[in-house]
Amino acid sequence: MTASAAADLAIDSRGLTKRFRTQTAVDSIDLAVPRGSVFGFLGPNGSGKTTTIRMLLGLITPSDGEIRVLGERMPDKLRNVLPRVGALVEGPAFYPFLTGRANLHRFDTADRHASRRTRPERVNAALERVGLTNAASKKAGAYSLGMKQRLGIANALLSPRDLLVLDEPTNGLDPQGTREVRNLVHSFAAEGTTVFVSSHLLAEVEQMCTHAAIMSAGSIVAQGSLDELRGAGESHVRVQTPDASTAESVLARFGLLPALTSPNEAHPEVSALLPPSTELDPDRLLPALLEAGVRVRGYGIEEASLEERFVALTGEGFDVRS
Ligand SMILES: Nc1ncnc2c1ncn2[C@@H]1O[C@H](COP(=O)(O)OP(=O)(O)OP(=O)(O)O)[C@@H](O)[C@H]1O
Ligand SMILES: [Mg+2]
Repeated sequence: MTASAAADLAIDSRGLTKRFRTQTAVDSIDLAVPRGSVFGFLGPNGSGKTTTIRMLLGLITPSDGEIRVLGERMPDKLRNVLPRVGALVEGPAFYPFLTGRANLHRFDTADRHASRRTRPERVNAALERVGLTNAASKKAGAYSLGMKQRLGIANALLSPRDLLVLDEPTNGLDPQGTREVRNLVHSFAAEGTTVFVSSHLLAEVEQMCTHAAIMSAGSIVAQGSLDELRGAGESHVRVQTPDASTAESVLARFGLLPALTSPNEAHPEVSALLPPSTELDPDRLLPALLEAGVRVRGYGIEEASLEERFVALTGEGFDVRS
């Protein structure tokens, strides 16, 4: 990557690695988060998202590799970088005996770059922005998980930021809260803030992000704009027809490997993976099926969805890697 391309990155890591005693939790990852992007850091439980985020923020020391955040080396330039970064990391800790508002005052006091004069209005604005104004006088210990999560986001918003790092910000939120966080993230992006947001929910990343990296077992298995990630997937032809075996033989004539994907339904579906577009014009398939007398009840050529790609890259299982 050229020097100017590197300068356009809000987060840039090379060979970033974290080993715990017996395990490599993050294995030589090269993150490239463009400035101004909403970047989804997607991966199943235990894939290394939080560990990576802790390294990016200087909360734990990498075992190996380099990090630049907003163009500055981390953790060497921590003091320059952190005031420009708002962060919500897994399980934010609050003083349970203080109200939500008092917690924010306390956090802001700890930030030596934050102006005392503007503190009350900044705290109120942050509470307002995450929808906690009505609950601001309640003790944080009595907050629900979703309210704590909102308070954590409010904390990240106390000062203007160039970069927001949000670790699973919708964790514990109801659908309404999830939608609000999504809208918040869009509004940060519209203000020019780069947002780096982790999630294990693909649909969420699809709705919220412009770019993503997919983590699996400590490694990045794909990274780029959402369009690039989708485009790197495969496409399929799908035919719904009562004449499944004829359809299969027609598709086989084009060198495809068709499979009956729903043999138990009234209208079976035959599908086949398409080779890269240069090798076969998919527009030839439907006329050939009709000519062979196949009664086509449904037909489509579909790009593999981001979901299929995610599952293919990370494995379908729900088991957590130990
Ligand atoms: N302090 C630690 N000591 C030992 N192992 C750790 C430590 N922190 C994390 N790990 C291990 O590193 C791996 C990655 O954990 P991490 O918390 O980064 O995953 P994650 O992608 O954030 O998962 P989740 O979606 O569940 O939050 C896990 O196997 C975890 O057990
Ligand atoms: Mg995590």
